[in-house]
Amino acid sequence: MTSDPSESIRDTVRRGYAEIARSGSGCCAGPSSCCGSSSPDRLAQAIGYTADELKTLPDGANMGLSCGNPTAIAELKPGQVVLDLGSGGGFDAFIAGPKVGPMGRVIGVDMTPDMVSKARQGIPVYHKHTGLHNVEFRLGEIEHLPLADASVDVVISNCVLNLSPDKPQVWREIGRVLKPGGRVAISDLALLKPLPMEIRDMVESLIGCIAGAVLVDETRAMAEASGLIEIQLTPKPGYVDAMVDWNDPLYRRVVEHLPEGAKAGDYVTSLNITAAKPTLTLTAHIKELIAIGASVTAHCQPCLTYHVDKARQIGIDEQEVREAIAVGHQVEKGSMSAMTAFTKSVLDSSTQDKPVCCTGRTSPDGKSCCS
Ligand SMILES: C[S@@+](CC[C@H](N)C(=O)[O-])C[C@H]1O[C@@H](n2cnc3c(N)ncnc32)[C@H](O)[C@@H]1O
Repeated sequence: MTSDPSESIRDTVRRGYAEIARSGSGCCAGPSSCCGSSSPDRLAQAIGYTADELKTLPDGANMGLSCGNPTAIAELKPGQVVLDLGSGGGFDAFIAGPKVGPMGRVIGVDMTPDMVSKARQGIPVYHKHTGLHNVEFRLGEIEHLPLADASVDVVISNCVLNLSPDKPQVWREIGRVLKPGGRVAISDLALLKPLPMEIRDMVESLIGCIAGAVLVDETRAMAEASGLIEIQLTPKPGYVDAMVDWNDPLYRRVVEHLPEGAKAGDYVTSLNITAAKPTLTLTAHIKELIAIGASVTAHCQPCLTYHVDKARQIGIDEQEVREAIAVGHQVEKGSMSAMTAFTKSVLDSSTQDKPVCCTGRTSPDGKSCCS
């Protein structure tokens, strides 16, 4: 076990899910598990998966670990490249595959080797059911995605982001791998309000989904900071209450410690998150360099001080800052020589021959309206 707290959380989560993958049960194979329902199909149907979708799934792909239905909100289209963060046994990846068809591709990423093996074991059955060869699973952390920049049309995920010890980094990675115009369709657990302290202490030791969940507004802030737009957060608290009704042990323990009359759904919710990456993406880096050049051309000294400072804060190389200043001076020089040429042409022309207004229109009495 590592001494880095983030790594230690990741290790605990990984061990919990390895056990779940090996036992094939979502409930409650390990103390760290984000416990799902003991009846995976019943849970899936309650959150909107159709019987048709479920019947084509390879055995074991649905382990009842979901807390939403991301493919239902993803509006997937043929030919798209889909990335499933924390793909587990391949549940949503196998459901997304037929929606993007033979020209599309679904890539599942999961950090637990046993989960990736389990998902890969399902590929031949998926192929037999659908005739498609368009789903693959990669071992990796969602904080360091094994994918190229701007290579994905849609990022989906089901009940995973809350488990990450570095959620802002996950959102930055989502922003990086999405193509301009790409979309996000994620289901996750979130807090509607902070949990009472005794529950936080209790669940923190479990490192389960609830302990890792953050407030809805914090999710919005992280998505915004990663440059995404059109962010819509739709709480679905009914799902959490349904899990409690089904006697899930982790949720039951939470409910037992809630203030009199409160329900788990008053604090914890399933959250649908949709967002988009802007079509035209100027990075913060490029924007600062443009602002530096423009500040020079506009002779705006406070602007220049501000933007050079900001550029340094976000780690822009000093040489790039100097180049941006040089470009600003060049534009200014170009503008000066164009003005000099224009001044000369104005002096060379006869106002008697061309009586024009400043606006370019001839004045009614034949004189310039500039005077
Ligand atoms: C609650 S399960 C959900 C699995 C799947 N999405 C589903 O709905 O069936 C969480 C999954 O996310 C994976 N996971 C958790 N944290 C991760 C991280 N930081 N990077 C990659 N995978 C992670 C776990 O290994 C596990 O398979």
